[in-house]
Amino acid sequence: MTAPLIDPFQRAISYLRISVTDRCDFRCLYCMSEQMTFLPKSELLTLEELDRLCSTFVGLGVRKLRVTGGEPLVRRNIMDFFRAMSRHLDSGALEELTLTTNGSQLAKYAADLAACGVRRINVSLDTLDDAKFAHITRWGRLSQVLEGIAAAKAAGLRVKINTVALKGFNEDELFRLLDWCAGEGHDLTFIEVMPMGETGDRLDQYWPLTDLRRRLGERFSLIPLTERTGGPARYVQVSETGQKIGFITPLTHNFCESCNRVRLTCTGELYMCLGQEDRADLRAPLREGADLEDAIRAAILHKPKGHDFDYSRQNTGQMPRHMSHTGG
Ligand code: GTP
Ligand code: 5AD
Ligand code: SF4
Repeated sequence: MTAPLIDPFQRAISYLRISVTDRCDFRCLYCMSEQMTFLPKSELLTLEELDRLCSTFVGLGVRKLRVTGGEPLVRRNIMDFFRAMSRHLDSGALEELTLTTNGSQLAKYAADLAACGVRRINVSLDTLDDAKFAHITRWGRLSQVLEGIAAAKAAGLRVKINTVALKGFNEDELFRLLDWCAGEGHDLTFIEVMPMGETGDRLDQYWPLTDLRRRLGERFSLIPLTERTGGPARYVQVSETGQKIGFITPLTHNFCESCNRVRLTCTGELYMCLGQEDRADLRAPLREGADLEDAIRAAILHKPKGHDFDYSRQNTGQMPRHMSHTGG
């Protein structure tokens, strides 16, 4: 037995998020600028190199792999990677293989994902209104995403909808989103918008989930649940409908003390925290044939205590890196 990965704050690292591409077919206002400069393809790790890195992490006790981006399903031949990772599900080394997607390519890939052992997926969806969807994603079409979500459901995948809470944008859709998810049988999680990347004034967009939750509570009784999915969301159950709703609150309630994850980028950098710059290059040791386990253990020793996101301070509490670089 190899020793598990433990960080300096005694947190066990059991969850790896892998951003397989920084590219995306959408340009969500809070995530990217319209003119993004993406990495040259030559900088990317090959799928075989990603496999070697991820498999090393699995060997070190990682039980959950989440594939992210950019949009993970726009990476060429990405199903080869899912098929390769599914061997760790078959062996029992891995508990969960999953992805976070904008849904645009799901109609094409849902059945293949299910065949690779994916059981649950997270799909980003901030509005159910065509025009608002086109506005917030700049390049997206709502109907395409809804078809993708329907394909996922038909393929037997459980769907969790991720909705970024945006002031003046989807406040008026709170109950509509809730009803739609209840009707379709999807879980729903709200996320506070995080100050990442230069994409305009985030304070204008920030809708604290304390307020969203209060509004939900005016109509429904909410029962806090102790259940966890391995991510930062905390869940409540709507007692009137039985529906489960998650809250991801990096701003109003920091959850870093229970952090169990690190993030690998498509160029082989390992980020120890979404909201900090601490990172280690794993591409060089990988390509030089050095001991990857040593490189990973050394990196984990630099995992910081938590993020410093904060809208109340000037020029601090901001992260210049775009969300698509580390995959959320
Ligand atoms: P499950 O709990 O497995 O469903 O997934 P998850 O909530 O961990 O993952 P998902 O990819 O759906 O992420 C939802 C949101 O949570 C995104 O906006 C992420 O950026 C955010 N998030 C995930 N992990 C962290 C974290 O460690 N810190 C912060 N600040 N945000 C995170
Ligand atoms: N703050 C919060 N969530 C964000 N996402 C992208 N950018 C941000 C941000 N600045 C979300 C997407 C997706 C997930 C991976 O991250 O909507 O659901
Ligand atoms: Fe693409 Fe997701 Fe960023 Fe939107 S939030 S631009 S879908 S990576």
